[in-house]
Amino acid sequence: MTSERIASVIDALSLPVLLIGPDERVRATNGLVDAILGAGLVGMHYITALRQPALIAAIADAIAKREACVVRYTGRNGPKNTVYQINIAATDDDILLTFEDQTAAEDASQMRRDFVANVSHELRTPLTALLGFIETLNGAAKDDPVARDRFLGIMANEANRMTRLVDDLMSLSRVEEDERVRPREHVDLGALLSSVIKGLEPQANAAGVTVTLNLVTTDEMVPGDAGQLVQVFTNLVENAIKYGASGQVVTVRLLPRAMNQRLRCDAVQISVSDKGDGIPAHHIARLTERFYRVDNHRSREVGGTGLGLAIVKHIINRHRGRLLIESDEGQGTQVSVFLPTGPLS
Ligand SMILES: Nc1ncnc2c1ncn2[C@@H]1O[C@H](COP(=O)(O)OP(=O)(O)O)[C@@H](O)[C@H]1O
Ligand SMILES: [Mg+2]
Repeated sequence: MTSERIASVIDALSLPVLLIGPDERVRATNGLVDAILGAGLVGMHYITALRQPALIAAIADAIAKREACVVRYTGRNGPKNTVYQINIAATDDDILLTFEDQTAAEDASQMRRDFVANVSHELRTPLTALLGFIETLNGAAKDDPVARDRFLGIMANEANRMTRLVDDLMSLSRVEEDERVRPREHVDLGALLSSVIKGLEPQANAAGVTVTLNLVTTDEMVPGDAGQLVQVFTNLVENAIKYGASGQVVTVRLLPRAMNQRLRCDAVQISVSDKGDGIPAHHIARLTERFYRVDNHRSREVGGTGLGLAIVKHIINRHRGRLLIESDEGQGTQVSVFLPTGPLS
């Protein structure tokens, strides 16, 4: 085949491809390879063109033995690291390199490792505390009833925290599992919000917070999963009580359906506002990441797991809706949920 024919065949492929001729020079590349390695490699010796030692050694080996092999190649795409698996194959005259992008797979496995490390850390902290108190109760505090009562109280708190963490982890995995399943029920949002607020009354009273419900519209039905929507609004109102308590009032509003530009459909808005300390702007985009908290110590103190908003985000995605967090430091926070009112696609 002429070099022109080869170049046109390679260009038509949807994989990044680079061909090295019998003279050990780059014979052809396609646009996809140029995007990874830079343009203008044709005619260069492969050692000058490719530069990474492991890759060069693998090609030298393939030339000498005429055998196929696989090598890992790391590149950069702007600020991001990219990882490719390069398959090196020997034809009669040429060496053919094809690139497979492994970046997404590597990112996913890094996320899995981070997640396991986070969960282990979150469980280890209360376990360490429990073991410490058990030791103290067996030793120094054995015959001290006052200390015993106090320590048992703390131990119960730590154990409850672990239970909540395990519950939230299971909830997260269930929510992730059915994220692609369309919700089937029709939910009366006004009634649902009333029952959520009623359920949280004891918590609100304990924190000295009044939660008011402002139904600007009633009888608003949306397609949804009632159980999951209860989870969403319980978490949002609970957060407002826990982290915005200093403002003493939390307002939940249900606004009538209106065209939502971002969702490109009619949607209702439910917003939960508090007049607490607010959230510094640079934290806001990250709040829905698992285990992300503005103040770790404070969240643990009030019994948080750091998973609530991650669960909320998944549920809203399943409902094809949108979550919007707005906050002014020192003024308060407003978290809004937009839910489509029409049949979900
Ligand atoms: N209304 C709010 N006011 C201030 N900070 C908030 C509010 N809601 C959430 N946050 C911050 O977002 C973090 C993540 O919330 P969430 O995922 O529900 O976790 P958790 O409540 O278990 O700590 C909280 O730890 C808190 O720092
Ligand atoms: Mg929460």
